[in-house]
Amino acid sequence: MRILSGVQPSGALHLGNYFGAVKQFVELQTEGEALYFIADLHAMTSTREPEALARQSRAIALDFLALGLDPARATLFRQSDIAWHTELYWILGSVTPMALLERGHSYKDKTARGLSPDLGLFAYPVLMAADILLYGAERVPVGKDQKQHLEFARDIATKFNMTYVKGYDPQDPMGREKGKPGLLRLPEPVILDSTAVVPGADGQKMSKSYANTIDLFAEDKVLKKQIMGIVTDSTPVEAPKDPATSSLFALLKLFLSPAELAELEGSFRRGGTGYGEYKKQLLAAFHAHFDGARAKRAELAKAPDYVDTVLREGAARARNIAAPIIGAVRAAVGLPSQRAS
Ligand code: ADP
Ligand code: TRP
Repeated sequence: MRILSGVQPSGALHLGNYFGAVKQFVELQTEGEALYFIADLHAMTSTREPEALARQSRAIALDFLALGLDPARATLFRQSDIAWHTELYWILGSVTPMALLERGHSYKDKTARGLSPDLGLFAYPVLMAADILLYGAERVPVGKDQKQHLEFARDIATKFNMTYVKGYDPQDPMGREKGKPGLLRLPEPVILDSTAVVPGADGQKMSKSYANTIDLFAEDKVLKKQIMGIVTDSTPVEAPKDPATSSLFALLKLFLSPAELAELEGSFRRGGTGYGEYKKQLLAAFHAHFDGARAKRAELAKAPDYVDTVLREGAARARNIAAPIIGAVRAAVGLPSQRAS
C-alpha cells in the first residue's frame, strides 16, 4: 500500500500538528510504502519571505526526523526537488474545470472576505492533486480541513482518465469489469475522526494563525510560558471543576493512559486542586513525552549535512516512483518522451 502526505513548512510544529498529523505519519510508516514531503511550493501561497521558506523547510525535516520518522522506512523529500510536480500540475490544469476550483473553500473564503486571490491560491488544489497522482498514492492521511482537496484530486484524476484513456469507465476506475483501468489512480483519504481538535492556550483550535500554540521544540522557558499561560476560568482551588469545558483537561488527556485519565477526571470533579497544579502536571507530561525527541533534534541539528542527505536520497527514491507515471502521462497526452527532471 502506498501512503503519501505533505506538510506545508509554514512555521514551528505544535501539539495540534503532532496529535492531529505527525503521530499518524510515524505510525503509518510501518504499514506500507510511505512518502512524506515538505510542500514548499504550496507554502509560497502564504510565505513571501525567501529566507523563512528555506529555513522552515529544513526545520520541518529535522522535526519529522526527531519525532520518529525513519528514513530507512519512509521517504522524506522536498516537493520542489521534483520538477514533475509542477509539470503534472500544468497537465492536470488543462483538464480541470474552472467551476470545480471555484467551489474551493480557501478560494471562496478569501473572496468572501473581499481579498483578491491570486492564481496560486486558486490553483492550489491542482498542485495538490499533482502531488498525490504523481506517485499513484492509494492512501492520503490528512486533517479534516483537507477533505475537499482529496475529493478534487479524485475528480481531476477521473477527468484526466476520461479524457486520455480510451475505454475508461469512471464507474470502474480500476478496469475490473470490461473497461480499461485509469492511468491515474484515485486516492483514498485517511481522515481520523478519532483525533479530536487539539485546543490552544485560549481554548480555540490550536493554530499558528491564532498565536495560541504549545510548540514541540520551543526553548524550555518559552514552553513553560506557553503552558502556564493556558486560559482557565475563575473556579477557586477547592471547588469542583468541569472537565468537559476545560481545555487544560483536553490537553492533559492527550498524554494520559485510560487509568490516569479516570483519576484526573475524579480529581477535577472533587475539587481541591488548582489549575496551576494541573498546568504543572501538563508541563511534566509534555517533557516526559517529548524530551527524547527534543534531545534528538538538538543532536541532529549539529550535523546539518544529515538532513540534506536524507532529503537528497528521499528525492531520488521519490523520482524513481514517479518516473514511470509521468512517462505514461506524457505519452498519453502527446508530449515527447522524458526529459530529465
Ligand atoms: P496551523 O493551523 O497551525 O497552520 P496546519 O494547517 O499547517 O496548522 O496543519 C498541519 C496539520 O496539522 C494538518 O494535518 C492539520 O489537520 C493538523 N492540525 C493542525 N492544528 C491542529 C489541531 N489544533 N488539532 C488537530 N490537528 C491539527
Ligand atoms: N494542503 C495540505 C495542508 O495544508 C498540504 C499538502 C500539500 C498535502 N500537498 C499534499 C497533503 C498532498 C496531502 C497530500 O495540510
